[in-house]
Amino acid sequence: MAAVAWGRCFPRVWLRRRAGPGCGRHYRAALCAELKQPLAIEEVASCPVRPHEVRVDVHFCGVNFADILVCRGQYQEKPQLPFTPGMEFSGTVLETGTDVSTVKEGDRVIGVSGFNGMAEECIIDHKTLWQIPEGVPLREAATLPVSYVTAILALEHRACTRPGETVLVTAAAGATGLAVIDVATNVLQAKVIAAAGSDEKCSLAMRKGAQSIVNYSQGSLKEAVRKLVGSDGVNVVIDAVGGDVFLEALRSLAWEGRIVVVGFAGGTIASVPANLLLLKNVSAMGLYWGRYKEQNFPVFSRILSSALQYCQQGRIQPHIGAVFKLEESRG
Ligand SMILES: NC(=O)c1ccc[n+]([C@@H]2O[C@H](COP(=O)([O-])OP(=O)(O)OC[C@H]3O[C@@H](n4cnc5c(N)ncnc54)[C@H](OP(=O)(O)O)[C@@H]3O)[C@@H](O)[C@H]2O)c1
Repeated sequence: MAAVAWGRCFPRVWLRRRAGPGCGRHYRAALCAELKQPLAIEEVASCPVRPHEVRVDVHFCGVNFADILVCRGQYQEKPQLPFTPGMEFSGTVLETGTDVSTVKEGDRVIGVSGFNGMAEECIIDHKTLWQIPEGVPLREAATLPVSYVTAILALEHRACTRPGETVLVTAAAGATGLAVIDVATNVLQAKVIAAAGSDEKCSLAMRKGAQSIVNYSQGSLKEAVRKLVGSDGVNVVIDAVGGDVFLEALRSLAWEGRIVVVGFAGGTIASVPANLLLLKNVSAMGLYWGRYKEQNFPVFSRILSSALQYCQQGRIQPHIGAVFKLEESRG
């Protein structure tokens, strides 16, 4: 699937809705009919909306690392085949169910769904739609639910990052990493050390606001961090790589430091040496953004709303790696 390759090269790729009529009897959707195979673009029959649902004319849909995993059958959630991938999207309301009073036809909205976003139209529960404030473009809005909610949950809600603290972020030029740099620097006033696997990625992270960079393809992450901050270490680590990168980042923590496990992009899940937690009174914790939607919706909703607000205020600026048309998602 082309999006797999592009997803690695660019922090963000996007699908743009084909120009044409909105709601009709049929709409086009990307379909995963067989795992690990290219998606198909097919005409799908529109369904009627139920009382609590909303039909949205999808303009942009985020393409995330998790979409790739889902289409390979390697994600923690495994939808029944065939399915339409796409967890986050933005668009305008076409139609509302009889019980819906929170949005109306024509409203600009963000939708968060497990799947179904990579289509010209999506039917979704009104509770998982958020109004997009004036001044926030639909394209930027679609970037917020996965990477920015993950970044804010990890930095604020889990690690309780304070102004002036030092944050080390791995896979720093990925979608999540860039969102972490943006939020840590421009919202929380923390100092960011960005760690990534190439000089090109490091310079992107630097342009995004990181104070220091480490290219971990060229040597030990722990030694490079020690050179930057001395033996004191960093206060917070947000790790999306796993394996040895996670272990070196854990060893880079300061007294009472916090490490948040966000992903295993490198493919290896490390075991935590518990003695390291004890010696420096550090905390290791996990973060799975989608679970907050199910388990603690008020926190999820508050954080997504604050991401929209930060975007409206110009405090955060999502990085969009590329925009693709729906038909280009076939790969
Ligand atoms: N827990 C959550 O709620 C949550 C939310 C969002 C994302 N995630 C996870 O966080 C990780 C990163 O997501 P993302 O959205 O930032 O993805 P992305 O934009 O595709 O970036 C992935 C980054 O991971 C690094 N990487 C290391 N080994 C890799 C490999 N073998 N294949 C591909 N990439 C590799 C690369 O950076 P370097 O070359 O610099 O190492 C790459 O830039 C994924 O595992 C994703 O599932 C978790």
